[in-house]
Amino acid sequence: MDLITLEKECSQCRRCGLCQTRTNVVFGQGSAQAKVLFVGEGPGQQEDEQGQPFVGRSGHLLDKYLFAIDLDRNTNCYIGNIVKCRPPQNRDPLPEERQACMPWLREQFRLLRPKIVVCLGRVAAQALIREDFSVTKEHGQFIDKNGTLFMATWHPAALLRNPAAKADAFSDFVALREKIAELGI
Ligand code: URA
Repeated sequence: MDLITLEKECSQCRRCGLCQTRTNVVFGQGSAQAKVLFVGEGPGQQEDEQGQPFVGRSGHLLDKYLFAIDLDRNTNCYIGNIVKCRPPQNRDPLPEERQACMPWLREQFRLLRPKIVVCLGRVAAQALIREDFSVTKEHGQFIDKNGTLFMATWHPAALLRNPAAKADAFSDFVALREKIAELGI
């Protein structure tokens, strides 16, 4: 199994109700060799239309932060989401939708074997780090889970709504760059 085969399977997924309203499955985007994996919440309208993660305004901001620390979604990192199909009206994905979708993300993990996972926002942090994780209080901290480092920062859409958090978010990206250098990845 490789990522391309997995994506083909995932594109047919009907494991939850979101399949009825989606235009495209947004499987993920990036290098199959990536050791840094970013995980968002779920596709928005533009992602649903284009089939790629983070292509709207928040994606543009994410690309800027990535560029600042020498990461690029096409060459040396990978971007995925907790749910692969757009929740209507961009509501939070329901627990049963997250649960139904998690096996796809687990397979992405298994194939990529990331050394660092960066959770973008509360939904990803609470699904992947801890149910009561607080991005405001705990952003930027690296947490070792079975040899993989997890860190969370603000979702780029939250930064567009609250630009005051941008400086702290940028510090998280700088810390990420230092961690990447430290691990030699
Ligand atoms: N927000 C997300 O969490 N993921 C996307 O892919 C786009 C916007």
